[in-house]
Amino acid sequence: AQNKRDSLYILLNFAKESFQELLWESEEGKSIGLSYFKERGFTDESIKDFELGYTLSEWDHLLKAATAKGYRQELLEEAGLIVVKEEGKVYDRFRNRVIFPIHNVSGKVVAFGARMLGKDKKQPKYINSPETELYNKSRILYGLFQAKQDIRKEDNVYLVEGYTDVISMHQTGIKNVVSSSGTALTEEQIKLLKRYTENVTVIFDGDAAGIKASIRGIDMLLEGGLNVRAVALPEGEDPDSYAKQLGTSAFSHYIESESQDIIRFKTKLFLADAKDDPVKKAGLIKDIVRSITKIDDPVKRTVYLKECSDLLGISEAVLVAEQNKILIQQN
Ligand code: CTP
Ligand code: MN
Ligand code: MN
Ligand code: MN
Ligand code: MN
Repeated sequence: AQNKRDSLYILLNFAKESFQELLWESEEGKSIGLSYFKERGFTDESIKDFELGYTLSEWDHLLKAATAKGYRQELLEEAGLIVVKEEGKVYDRFRNRVIFPIHNVSGKVVAFGARMLGKDKKQPKYINSPETELYNKSRILYGLFQAKQDIRKEDNVYLVEGYTDVISMHQTGIKNVVSSSGTALTEEQIKLLKRYTENVTVIFDGDAAGIKASIRGIDMLLEGGLNVRAVALPEGEDPDSYAKQLGTSAFSHYIESESQDIIRFKTKLFLADAKDDPVKKAGLIKDIVRSITKIDDPVKRTVYLKECSDLLGISEAVLVAEQNKILIQQN
């Protein structure tokens, strides 16, 4: 019911404000949480823009504070804020972590991501809210609330992997940036983006996982009718680490000058991998043509096939034949 949803929004907002207060005002929050963000180079303005927070190492700080305010335990559970064990034990889901609130498009908090502080390898680096009545992770893009006006203004959106990538890029002045939060892009997320722009620039982490994710996501974006560009990062870097390494103006320049059309990006990436192996090369040609075939617009497809023919040194006729084969199989 609407009533229930309203209560959940109010509770999540209470939790967000409580995490912010702990970050800025408690001794533990200041010495652990705030200094963590400062060491990462986040400014006060960024911390405030993204409403970052901190959760204490106590087991039940939020549970107690919310209960004292009259919130029922069932509501806390439905909001994903507490964990209720079968034995009846109840405790806060997020403890001793820095907090990244996840907003919906209208700026209301629907979930939290929480990062560990130390290097305890037994714990997951991030813990996120479970899916709830308000939070369907396939329909949310992290940072969209903070980015939407700039996405419209620039008529382009940068798509990155992580929370910190969004914040760091925003801080360098590139504010049209959102994140899929480490999960594969969904159709709903693509539809959401299309409300603001038809142009997406993908910047995934410069590691094997990031490259794989970008390649999977790219075909979905093309299928969604978007114009896709990509920026490759040096191995081991992500937008956050690389922005910190280069500094604001060199990073912005890098992003602008290295952004390239996706088919060109993919073709070069695959060519480097295939080298002179003809079997691999044949496989990659099919793969790239398959990507091109995802594009609905026949004019765009023709332009792409021409470009690939140049890059690969293969006649357009061969590529067109391959495309037609795929189109026939599909329809
Ligand atoms: N992620 C997650 N759970 C994990 C690891 C990652 O939900 N255990 C999500 C987070 O949204 C994270 C994104 O995947 O931001 C990208 O993961 P990764 O590149 O490993 O983290 P970073 O965002 O680079 O975080 P940091 O710089 O703090 O290490
Ligand atoms: Mn700002
Ligand atoms: Mn990564
Ligand atoms: Mn990172
Ligand atoms: Mn990363």
